[in-house]
Amino acid sequence: MADKGGLEGVVVARSRLCSIDGQNGVLVYGGYDVGDLAEHSSYEEVCFLTLYGELPTKEQFDAFLSDLSGHRALSDETAQVVDMLASHAAPMEMLRTAVSSDSFDDPDKDSNDAEANRRKAMRLIAKMPTMVARYARRRAGQEPIAPDPALGHAANFLQMLTGERPSPAAAKTFDVALILHADHEMNASTFTARVIASTLSDMHSAITGAIGALKGPLHGGANEQVMHLLEAIPEGASVEDEIRARLDRKERIMGFGHRVYKTWDPRAVILKRFSRRLADESAEPRWFEMSEAIEKTVVGEKGLYPNVDFYSASTYHYLGVETGLFTPIFAMSRVVGWAAHVIEQHSDNRLIRPSSEYVGPGPRSYEPIERRSQAA
Ligand code: SDX
Repeated sequence: MADKGGLEGVVVARSRLCSIDGQNGVLVYGGYDVGDLAEHSSYEEVCFLTLYGELPTKEQFDAFLSDLSGHRALSDETAQVVDMLASHAAPMEMLRTAVSSDSFDDPDKDSNDAEANRRKAMRLIAKMPTMVARYARRRAGQEPIAPDPALGHAANFLQMLTGERPSPAAAKTFDVALILHADHEMNASTFTARVIASTLSDMHSAITGAIGALKGPLHGGANEQVMHLLEAIPEGASVEDEIRARLDRKERIMGFGHRVYKTWDPRAVILKRFSRRLADESAEPRWFEMSEAIEKTVVGEKGLYPNVDFYSASTYHYLGVETGLFTPIFAMSRVVGWAAHVIEQHSDNRLIRPSSEYVGPGPRSYEPIERRSQAA
């Protein structure tokens, strides 16, 4: 068994999709640095790159955009599932259930070939934002807002959520956040998707499993905990003292540390810039200011750096996104990475079935119940 467990350092697949240099804080999608893609590309173009392995030509991209925006509407059945769950299911419970239910009517549900899988991926990429926005509005007692084919992926989601067309700056910020969350090598939810795909189970099952993995606070759920931490620190209190006290109690500060990055997560570097910019334009700069104070304390005290979840919290908050939607937003971006890994697994598959080291009791004989004394 690996020294620390958790498959640390164990290579479980060969992939062309994404690579991470944890020592130098570099993230690459299909050969392109994520910083370049954040500056010059769009989430939709990153989806094409992730699903097809190349950036699109103009003709390819126009067809892709038309296909994507044409699939945003939910089936009546999935819309009913979202509406039924809105009042009592937590956001990631809703998303896990709605994605699962969306397979029933999928015309490609019985095929795992690459083109069928890409079509399913497109439909999930297009529909998950609609699921999340519909759910949020229903929970708030508001009518859902239909997808707008005239808007890009990021702007359309924000409009479906808020009812208002976002500013170009807000749409760009959110688009970059979606790019940054699209893929991340062999993280826990992606590995979950690959294990499910390796049994030759279907795309929807793999994505549903991945959503379940991402829900956990050691993975995608961290960004919500970061916002709760920011809100829990009383205004005027010393952030440094608050954080030191938590560290002294051996508490984990969510949004810090990473299994692979041993320096800044490059995504956090970019998100910090957006959070600062939004704070400068906001009446509540304290969310960024507190975040930076926490960062300085944790880096100084523990030598741990912010990961993608730390500054995404204040960035989403400044964009008016409610905290409970932070992880569903992570999922509706990462779905393209999960799907591409499912396609890659199906295209060159061997059942993923590791072994375990047995550390249980040695051989022993069966004792009839009458002869069993109280449990030792
Ligand atoms: C994501 O894998 C991915 O790529 C994931 C992700 C993606 O894009 O898919 O990048 C997204 O999940 C980011 C991580 C979000 N999670 C958090 O922010 C939760 C808080 N961070 C951790 O719990 C932790 O850092 C992990 C889970 C992210 C990684 O932990 P490891 O590699 O298993 O390291 P560890 O738990 O063994 O910790 C090593 C030491 C321990 O101290 P000691 O017991 O050795 O004294 O570092 C300490 C830990 O206590 N530590 C922390 C800490 N993270 C680790 N101490 C305080 N606060 C923290 N956040």
